[in-house]
Amino acid sequence: MSTVLDFARLKQEGRRISIVTAYDAWSARLVARSRVDAILVGDSAAMVMHGHKTTVAATLQMMALHTSAVASACGDKFLIADMPFLSFRKGTAAAMEAVGTLMRSGAHAIKLEGVEGHEAVIQRIVGSGVPVMGHLGLTPQSVNQFGGFKVQGKGCAQAERILRQAHALEELGCFSIVLECIPAALATRITSELRIPTIGIGAGAGTDGQVLVLQDLWGVDPARAPRFVRRYLDGEGLLTTALDQYDADVKNADFPRSEESYS
Ligand code: KIV
Repeated sequence: MSTVLDFARLKQEGRRISIVTAYDAWSARLVARSRVDAILVGDSAAMVMHGHKTTVAATLQMMALHTSAVASACGDKFLIADMPFLSFRKGTAAAMEAVGTLMRSGAHAIKLEGVEGHEAVIQRIVGSGVPVMGHLGLTPQSVNQFGGFKVQGKGCAQAERILRQAHALEELGCFSIVLECIPAALATRITSELRIPTIGIGAGAGTDGQVLVLQDLWGVDPARAPRFVRRYLDGEGLLTTALDQYDADVKNADFPRSEESYS
């Protein structure tokens, strides 16, 4: 997948969309060699790469730096960058400045959380020729309001609200919506009612696609283990084994050998 038009096409053809996060050039290069459809430079970078407890810590400067690193190595993958905490809540002019920064860093689209209160900003971004991905459900930038990383949309009223928000995002011109940590039945209903594709994370199998944090998928940090993560690799085991092997080789004077040295 290399353009925003592919999202609509894949939904029409009933084909699923795969997305992973990436925050740096070397992992973007690996994703570029895979069949994964698109890359999200998520504000989860604040947690995964910088060790913060929530994504509230992400800044525009941080997101721009990660976006340009990923853009340098992601080949023809479609690249979406997250608008960080409050960057789209300070008025349209400030939001457009932030969008400009991320697009100039190499993004092909931006993602932002929620809809209520920033409808005009979304409309302005879309109207300016920048594809916008929505994000509903457990929107991590609102974690302090939710009282933790909790499944959203469980009761009828909450579910109806998320459904209304999804329709509003479609009306505002979003090309796709991430649905995070909501009941599978709600995600399936939203997906069937919308023309644009939904991308799930912790939202069951009824969405048009899935997104996972790369480090979760590779299993490099078993401490981060939400129920919805599937680990495809014991990354932590493999990587620490390699480090211990290197340590042993250095200490046994087995590294470097002559073929690894200059004469
Ligand atoms: O920041 C992020 O990684 C995200 C995805 C998990 C959807 O927003």
